[in-house]
Amino acid sequence: MLKVSGLRVHFHNASPERYAVNGVSFSLKRGETLGIVGESGSGKTVTAMCVSGLMPRGKADEEGSILLDGREMFSCSEENLRRIRGQDVGVVFQDPMTTFDPLCRIGRQVEEALTVRGIPKMERRKRAVEAMGLAGLRDAEELYSRYPYELSGGMLQRASIAAAMITKPKLLICDEVTTALDVLIQEQILELLRNLNEDYGMTILFISHDLHVVKKICKSVLVMERGKIVERGETAEVFARPQHAYTKKLIASIPTGAERCRAYD
Ligand SMILES: Nc1ncnc2c1ncn2[C@@H]1O[C@H](COP(=O)(O)OP(=O)(O)OP(=O)(O)O)[C@@H](O)[C@H]1O
Ligand SMILES: [Mg+2]
Repeated sequence: MLKVSGLRVHFHNASPERYAVNGVSFSLKRGETLGIVGESGSGKTVTAMCVSGLMPRGKADEEGSILLDGREMFSCSEENLRRIRGQDVGVVFQDPMTTFDPLCRIGRQVEEALTVRGIPKMERRKRAVEAMGLAGLRDAEELYSRYPYELSGGMLQRASIAAAMITKPKLLICDEVTTALDVLIQEQILELLRNLNEDYGMTILFISHDLHVVKKICKSVLVMERGKIVERGETAEVFARPQHAYTKKLIASIPTGAERCRAYD
């Protein structure tokens, strides 16, 4: 379903030999869950942006190939990329507080991908409430008309998952979606993603700097260091027998409760 080959990205403002992503290749089959882990700056988000067609134009040189269902993302027009993003690929980012426009009601933002496609209001509302329910938001009917500040961080993250899911994408990309949440809420979001994968066969590309979080949801994992994949395999296997010193270091670095807990809920 997704085949990334020889992906290299060089930002124009970086030093000549500094590649943000440097020769990354992997593939993902329908229904699979793949994690990408690595320290800050290792190229995880840039990889995700390339896959979702979100790379800013004119800021970087990109090489390689990204095939999504046989379609080459690099040769798609801006308009096609937008369509793919609205339809085939859903993306959820780290901070639910900044994902939403504070002045716009939640429901309107959840259904935005349908609005841009000209779907009538009643149907949009119905599907938004449906997606919010699927994302584990109770009383979705009522939440639809609320403003972002009226929801907790965990609820907002569920709402952004609902927004990404509303078009029933084939691939859901999650970039550090649990990082800003406290441990308990983190667990709930992970469970939601696990259910989406198990019950609906959603294919998930899950990015995190925390290998322990990845272990809870991804069957296989790529470990990135400075733009390169240094280790890959089944997550359980990588955990049990890490080959690379960098992977061992990531396994050893268990974030403390204090680091993980930010008072959102
Ligand atoms: N818009 C940009 N302009 C210039 N350089 C960038 C830009 N975005 C990312 N980079 C560079 O690309 C490299 C990879 O960044 P990326 O955001 O992919 O890291 P990451 O693994 O997602 O890190 P984090 O865990 O902090 O999110 C970094 O060196 C970063 O400085
Ligand atoms: Mg990142």
